[in-house]
Amino acid sequence: MTSTLFSRITGTGSFLPPKLVTNDDLARDLATRGIETSDEWIFTRSGIRQRHFAEPDVTSSDLALQAARNALQAAGRRADEVDLIIVATSTPDMVFPSSAAILQHKLGVAGCAAFDVQAVCSGFIYALTVADSMVRTGSAKCALVVGAEVFSRILDFNDRSTCVLFGDGAGAVVLEASPEPGILASDLHADGSHVGILCVPGQVSGGQILGQPLLRMDGKAVFKLAVRVLEEAAQTTLRKAGKTEADIDWLVPHQANIRIMEGTARKLKLPLEKLIATVDQHGNTSAASVPLALDSAVRGGKIKKGHTVLLEGVGGGFTWGAVLLTM
Ligand code: ACO
Repeated sequence: MTSTLFSRITGTGSFLPPKLVTNDDLARDLATRGIETSDEWIFTRSGIRQRHFAEPDVTSSDLALQAARNALQAAGRRADEVDLIIVATSTPDMVFPSSAAILQHKLGVAGCAAFDVQAVCSGFIYALTVADSMVRTGSAKCALVVGAEVFSRILDFNDRSTCVLFGDGAGAVVLEASPEPGILASDLHADGSHVGILCVPGQVSGGQILGQPLLRMDGKAVFKLAVRVLEEAAQTTLRKAGKTEADIDWLVPHQANIRIMEGTARKLKLPLEKLIATVDQHGNTSAASVPLALDSAVRGGKIKKGHTVLLEGVGGGFTWGAVLLTM
């Protein structure tokens, strides 16, 4: 009889492009376009103080490469030991090939499976769940799971209600086969009827861009939906794992808005000390936000081996989901 196979995170890493843009910097820049905003408005509504923007020649796979190297180093693995690469991104380098294939080449390896997952801000939760399934069924032993975004490319800097909220960055984990869990349970959902409240309504056609490939969001509608589905996903995931809220050591939710994150923690009856919040430092980095926050908390000494962590994502699609794991 073979022992049950689990997947377990053995290393985390992240990377932020060096250009730091504070709310005051952004307010000054927008003022040159005749658009008014302030650090006070942005911080009060979202909890964001600053974000990082990549230089124009830097792509998602460039950010992913640095995050992946940091995660591999933390796991004590070489790139040639990786047999699966999944990149969650909504801002890929090209229409095709996938940013995962490009990342694989930048890592100096070839041959292993590599593909992208597109679930916007839930992308990392989706990618981690897919990697977990592949590891548990034996089709991969050492997976590199990355969330990487250059969201600044799809922001409309004439729309103050969205352009102040997002940033660029990447986060990664190495997920390996393990006799002990690891990932305890996950829960994924989508409801395409909400496409209109959060989308980038553009497409490439006949060598041209049709529509407006810039982010559009009905912030209030997203807010309401996010608070509801994040609680549901958390409860379902805990139930699947046979755990309760009391078992959670750390909540690492998608970093979109501190009010949504604190609302979710309160609904789960978690003290705010158990909430990992990096939204003030990074803004909303979409698929990169959860692995970036996870890596910050691991390197900051908060999340330690043996801790039970609930990761949660919510975003365009509408998509949402959660992963409960033991570090
Ligand atoms: N600076 C100053 N004023 C502003 C700005 C700004 N940057 N943006 C909007 N305003 C004004 C509005 O024009 C409005 O003015 P009015 O009352 O005179 O019309 C006022 O501020 C209030 O605007 P609201 O939209 O009502 O502000 P709200 O409190 O809803 O906060 C926010 C907006 C921060 C976007 C919030 O709704 C939110 O966080 N929503 C959720 C976003 C989210 O979670 N996204 C996650 C998914 S992201 C993804 O998947 C890619």
